[in-house]
Amino acid sequence: MNNLKIIANWKMNGSKEEVESWINNFSNYVESKDQSQCILCPPSCYLNSAKEIIANNNLTLNLGSQDLDSDQDYPSTGGINGKMLKDLGCDYVLIGHSERRIHFKEDENILSMKLSSAIQNNIKVIYCVGETQEERDKGLAIETLKKQLRVLKDLPFNLISIAYEPVWSIGKGVTPSLNSIDDMHQIIQDELKSNLNTEENIKISYGGSVTKDNAVSIALLNSVDGLLIGGASLNAESFSEIVNNITRQN
Ligand code: PGA
Repeated sequence: MNNLKIIANWKMNGSKEEVESWINNFSNYVESKDQSQCILCPPSCYLNSAKEIIANNNLTLNLGSQDLDSDQDYPSTGGINGKMLKDLGCDYVLIGHSERRIHFKEDENILSMKLSSAIQNNIKVIYCVGETQEERDKGLAIETLKKQLRVLKDLPFNLISIAYEPVWSIGKGVTPSLNSIDDMHQIIQDELKSNLNTEENIKISYGGSVTKDNAVSIALLNSVDGLLIGGASLNAESFSEIVNNITRQN
């Protein structure tokens, strides 16, 4: 599982000190060649200190942002655009996380502008999709994914990967069955090929209640190219254990 990406999404957690001790611990537990498979997404205000610790210690850990603001032709108080993220050492950005779609009302219009801003600045996008419990219960899961993917039409897929995160699983301690993860990833891949004309397989990560107990079995699925980990990424030791358990499967 050499090229599998393991992404730590801290959400609105941590402090400057915690970022520093997390990176130090992580770099003690995880070998340099495996660190490069990992992407740390701390809150934006800690990106700069994370960048400095990574550079000062010659680490291969990647940095990602949990969000970005698109360039607007009006003044945008509080905004952080792709160019600024690049300055802060970010090579990756999460776009379309369900928490942003739901609580920050980010619709396809907004997401489309965010995608353009990331791509213009050569930042690799991890585009999150996933159905809610209600959509699943109504048999609308596949339709939801297709609708969410449509915004990617005509974008350069060399800078885009997908994270399938069923909303009903995030932070809930429940995950879909392995078969169901496989099926949904296949549906996403088929949709990308048939309606969005992607030629090669696009990388698809799974996210939603990944822990050290289920990470390896999910990562072993052929359709899974990465893991997007929230709660279980906050502790450096348990995140590193997940990384080591996966990379040692080779
Ligand atoms: P979780 O979060 O691992 O805590 O379920 C995943 C995410 O929201 O990206």
